Amino acid sequence: MEEPKKITSVVLKNPLDMHLHLRDGITMRAVLPFSARSFVGALIMPNLIPPIDSLESARAYEERILACVKQSACENFTPLCALYMTDSLTTQMLEECAKAGYKFLKLYPKGATTNSQHGVSSVLDSHMCALFEAAQALEMIVCIHGESGGFVLDREHEFGSVLVELATKFPRLKFIIEHMSDHRTIPLLENYENLYATLTLHHITLDLDALAGGALCHHHFCKPVIKTPKDKEALLDLALNAHPKVSFGSDSAPHGLESKRNGAAGIFSAPCLLPQLVELFEHHEKLGNLQAFVSDNAMRIYDFASWSPLAQEWERNPKYVYLEKTPCEIPQGVGAYQAIGDELQISEEIIPLRAGERLKWTQK
Ligand code: DOR
Ligand code: ZN
Repeated sequence: MEEPKKITSVVLKNPLDMHLHLRDGITMRAVLPFSARSFVGALIMPNLIPPIDSLESARAYEERILACVKQSACENFTPLCALYMTDSLTTQMLEECAKAGYKFLKLYPKGATTNSQHGVSSVLDSHMCALFEAAQALEMIVCIHGESGGFVLDREHEFGSVLVELATKFPRLKFIIEHMSDHRTIPLLENYENLYATLTLHHITLDLDALAGGALCHHHFCKPVIKTPKDKEALLDLALNAHPKVSFGSDSAPHGLESKRNGAAGIFSAPCLLPQLVELFEHHEKLGNLQAFVSDNAMRIYDFASWSPLAQEWERNPKYVYLEKTPCEIPQGVGAYQAIGDELQISEEIIPLRAGERLKWTQK
């Protein structure tokens, strides 16, 4: 019998990261090149201080990101800026945003995570329902950090009832359950046509043992918290099979080492994401599904072709990302530098997921 052919290279067309924190200023300068090199586009989270919560701030933030893309000499990377839903958002603001091509809303329940103090205090009150009604009419997409204020391991599950109510009340509005982390949430995707999800690398590969099984590892601390082996396996299964209702969203969320030590939630996974995904899918003999997981599903779920000139542009001038089976090492740390007079001084160090580990695959 012939030996199966060993795969030594992979090409991905137009990879998308549908959940990314780029921050701003020197942190953005330090972290952006990792994403801009690997992805054709990313959905950029708006939880800055102050939040990106108006058309004006979204436009200005997008310009800063694009300037940084240019500076990093990374080509062909489009940031899609999401708008932070605050209690003071109005339907008129939504109309302005949608008209200007900003289609994504991000809903943080107040207090649920990093910089969510401006989030929504009551997701289903009459003001919010009027906003969802408008968002539905405008064919916007609502990305949700779906956690209650309850016991940490049950927060996502408890939020399920809110998702059901939203999905039922606004059947033509698409809701994305961001960074799905609990196997008990999966049936919602099957049961409600307008509910979708993103999956991170860390939630499909790590469980609580990686956070607290040995010495406490703050680099594995994020919200929603990584959960049980059963949750991890169930979510991994969705990713490996490129379940049609999920797409990849890294939730790469950089924090300086000092903040991490002080308990900040967020995992900086941007360095070497695609090599890690290739390694994971290869290990499970599912490489054939990776293209769908990192791009095709998102193209379909977010239906870029129906509203964005990007769909055509990405087809006409695709970004191909080449990976080959030669070892690479995840950086030990990434420095954010500040100019002090003529000198560049390191202002903070950001430690990536699996820092210093050797991978079997490299992005060329
Ligand atoms: O772990 C997280 N970090 N979860 C979030 O929802 C926010 C993010 C951040 O901005 O650091
Ligand atoms: Zn996030």
